Amino acid sequence: MDGLPGPSPGSWQNDFDGQGARSMESKGERSVQTRWRRRLQCLAAAFLVSVGSPSLGADDGRIVIAHRGASGYLPEHTLAAYAMAYAQGADYIEPDLARTRDGAFICLHDIRLEATTDVESRFPDRHRADGRWYAADFDLAEIRQLRVHERLEGRFPRQGARFFVPTFEEMIELVQGLNSSVGRTVGIYPELKSPAWHREQGLAMEEPFLEVMQRYGFYDGSAPVFVQSFELAPLERMRALGSPLPQIMLMGRGPVFDAMATRRGLAKLAELVDGIGPAKERLVENPELVTWAHSAGLLVHPYTFRADSLPPGVETLEDELRSFFVDLGVDGLFTDFPDRARVWIDRNLH
Ligand code: G3P
Ligand code: CA
Repeated sequence: MDGLPGPSPGSWQNDFDGQGARSMESKGERSVQTRWRRRLQCLAAAFLVSVGSPSLGADDGRIVIAHRGASGYLPEHTLAAYAMAYAQGADYIEPDLARTRDGAFICLHDIRLEATTDVESRFPDRHRADGRWYAADFDLAEIRQLRVHERLEGRFPRQGARFFVPTFEEMIELVQGLNSSVGRTVGIYPELKSPAWHREQGLAMEEPFLEVMQRYGFYDGSAPVFVQSFELAPLERMRALGSPLPQIMLMGRGPVFDAMATRRGLAKLAELVDGIGPAKERLVENPELVTWAHSAGLLVHPYTFRADSLPPGVETLEDELRSFFVDLGVDGLFTDFPDRARVWIDRNLH
């Protein structure tokens, strides 16, 4: 849809064997200018979060990112979970984004529907040959007929309250409406889910996503936002499309992410993004990653902190928060329990 050739998914590796270095260098001057503009935008956003929330907000510059909303308490990616995260003092609320067949952005973690909705019983014949139900095969009106339920055992009961799949626009309007009625300034932290896969389906994400962001006023720096992806190419494409939005490179497992998680890799990444979102295990294995990232001017926002799924040897979520905020020095984190992180920060990081 955006018609841009864009870098191939393997372009990052090329930056280390020389083949892609030239294209990164040719972007250098523009990068330096836009980088400074984005740094100022990040600072302005941090200021907005902080002054807009005298009793609930970022302290010591650290931020609480509500992972899929307050997903420890309510089914993920529902307006109820987002509203609860807001009330619990999150600084940013995270929607993961997928696209429907008719092009709508919906808040959904998976490209498939069966883990969190009743799609199998409501549309029994609409699966692909692999036996899976893909959001990209359904129009928004059909997605609206689905009932959302909790993904994980032991959290919100599967039967009972009624939840539906929200659109990205509805999520934004909820947060912006609350910002107006409550008088705080909470940001959004959208993730483009599987952008390369969506592109293959004829549903490229970058250009229409930026159109939504522009339409809702995020381009002028007056509302805090970070855009995140596990894929480098869409982040490059959005810069090429002129996006001024702060960007976060997520770092999962695998050789491409290993190459990024070095001093040199982070310095290169800093030409394109404003921070990294590593799996928290990466920081446990290599605490220096935080120092390296900060030296490169990058924020560090690891994921995911869950009170009901603690790492071996960690007794409480608060112990884990202390370890990451104090010992490792991260700038924020993704958590399913934004209330616990908010309270911990307010008590310990003043
Ligand atoms: O985006 C940060 C974190 O949410 C990444 O993990 O799989 O929950 O989207 P995931
Ligand atoms: Ca995510």
